[in-house]
Order: sequence, then structure tokens, then C-alpha cells
Amino acid sequence: MSRIEHHVILGDLEPGTQVWITVDGKKMPARAGEPILSALLANGVKVQNISIKKHEPRGYFCGIGRCTNCVMTVNGDPNVRTCVTPVEDGMVIETQDGLGKWEG
Ligand code: FES
Repeated sequence: MSRIEHHVILGDLEPGTQVWITVDGKKMPARAGEPILSALLANGVKVQNISIKKHEPRGYFCGIGRCTNCVMTVNGDPNVRTCVTPVEDGMVIETQDGLGKWEG
């Protein structure tokens, strides 16, 4: 896992509670409460969805909840902005294809 542990402005990374998330069927560690996107990047996951028009991999852009480039399917709900949604233990996160599909 790769993270910035010492930042000149933000200071040192505080110790966090480790939880587990499942991303496209693969279990990954995360820090409770951090944005899902942070956990994904720390685990080397850079693609959040497949674009609607060109069907190409797409990753985050703004990182502050404004552009929707980071949307993924989380616990069965499509179009979740991963840059502003906190991690919870046991979350199931999937790369979203286009507009995504609602489950059941
Ligand atoms: S990266 Fe823009 S809304 Fe998440």
C-alpha cells in the first residue's frame, strides 16, 4: 500500500483503523472513514468506470465531488462518487460500466 505519510502542510498521517473492502472481487485494506478513492489509489486502482460513449477506462478528475468521473457501483448502488464517500468495513465496490445498473 502506498500513501503519503509526511506532508509539509497537512502534517503526519494519523494512525487509522484498518478495514477491508472488496473491489471487483479482490479484498483490499483501507482506512476506516477515508474516501473510497483514497483507498483505491493506495492499492493501485486507477480506473473507476468505463466511459459511456467510447467505452474506455476512466479515472477521477476533480477529487472534490464535482465532476462525477470517479463514480463506481458501491454495495449495488451505481453512480457513487468515490472521492467524497467514506470507506466502511465490508464495502463491495465495482468498476462501473457506463451508467451502471440498479440491483434488484
Ligand atoms: S473525481 Fe470528480 S466527483 Fe469524484
